[in-house]
Amino acid sequence: MDSPSRDILIVDDDRQVREVLHQIFLSAGYACRLAEDGRAGVAAFTEKPTELVVTDLKMPVMSGIELLQQIRALDGDAAVIVLTGAADVKTAIDSLKLGAYDFIMKPVNVEELLIAAERALERRQLLIERRAYQAMLERRVEEATQHLTAAYQELEATYGTTLEALGSALDTRDIGTESHSRRVHGYALATAKEYGVPQELVRDLAHGVLLHDIGKIGIPDAILLKPGPLTPEEWKVMRTHPEIGKRLIERIPFLRGAVPIVFSHHEKWDGTGYPRGLSGEDIPLGARIFAVVDAFDAMTFSRPYSKAITFDAARAEIKRCAGTHFDPNVVEAFLRVPGQLLDEIRRRSIAP
Ligand SMILES: [Fe+2]
Repeated sequence: MDSPSRDILIVDDDRQVREVLHQIFLSAGYACRLAEDGRAGVAAFTEKPTELVVTDLKMPVMSGIELLQQIRALDGDAAVIVLTGAADVKTAIDSLKLGAYDFIMKPVNVEELLIAAERALERRQLLIERRAYQAMLERRVEEATQHLTAAYQELEATYGTTLEALGSALDTRDIGTESHSRRVHGYALATAKEYGVPQELVRDLAHGVLLHDIGKIGIPDAILLKPGPLTPEEWKVMRTHPEIGKRLIERIPFLRGAVPIVFSHHEKWDGTGYPRGLSGEDIPLGARIFAVVDAFDAMTFSRPYSKAITFDAARAEIKRCAGTHFDPNVVEAFLRVPGQLLDEIRRRSIAP
């Protein structure tokens, strides 16, 4: 790669030395600027920075060390090489700690000086490239993170919509309970909030509530849609829907958290529910919340086989069943949900 002419600032109070250095660098192809002391050097650098600065250490007005500090403050990438007499080696070593790239002992060996200059420029270039590379990497990581976040959010939204659609489809099949899932979903979230369910479990709760009856997909229409009461044999089949639901969704990683609700949504606090006859806190919390809000919705929404009762009457009935059908703590949380909010959830969930 063709390198453009390299800039150098030569700072030395000895005019003769300055001239010698000028000739050396000029013949090596450098574009040179000269200054007779530190202050003049800083002024020249401020006016137009150079890639490389070669400076004497001992100078009147402003020392080489001070010049080094000021130049590094103006441009952290500036490559500075200091020239030093044998008596001043310690200061030269100190200059390295302050950011000088190298030091050259006087009297100057031309070859050594040019090699040091080359090396300093290369190192400077490397540092700049490395920093640019790192910045580019950081930018790419940030871009990739942004894309990932957007993709993740889109995926989440898609999942959510799919689940809602699935929930509605289930509701539609189970005639007379349209938008049941959506209402129960709203009641369950409001109750979970009152109960203090940790945020990380709320998503599983929401999925479980929307999909609680997904196992009904496996129940024959003759039973599921039968207008009259079911025979004991038919009930037996109907009661397999939590197990079918569990089997359907446990293989989907994203829905695994909903399995406890789907599988246990017909369990009762006193152990008289199904499919496992679990009791008390052996029943997953999500399923205990679901049981309350599902019963509330069943009581307050007219179905072909039952007439709706008022919110107050339904709440009284739920209170009466605390400790038998329902977890008393969940009932308490549910009763704290304002009636106005329950009403709003119900109105918002009306099927379009
Ligand atoms: Fe069910």
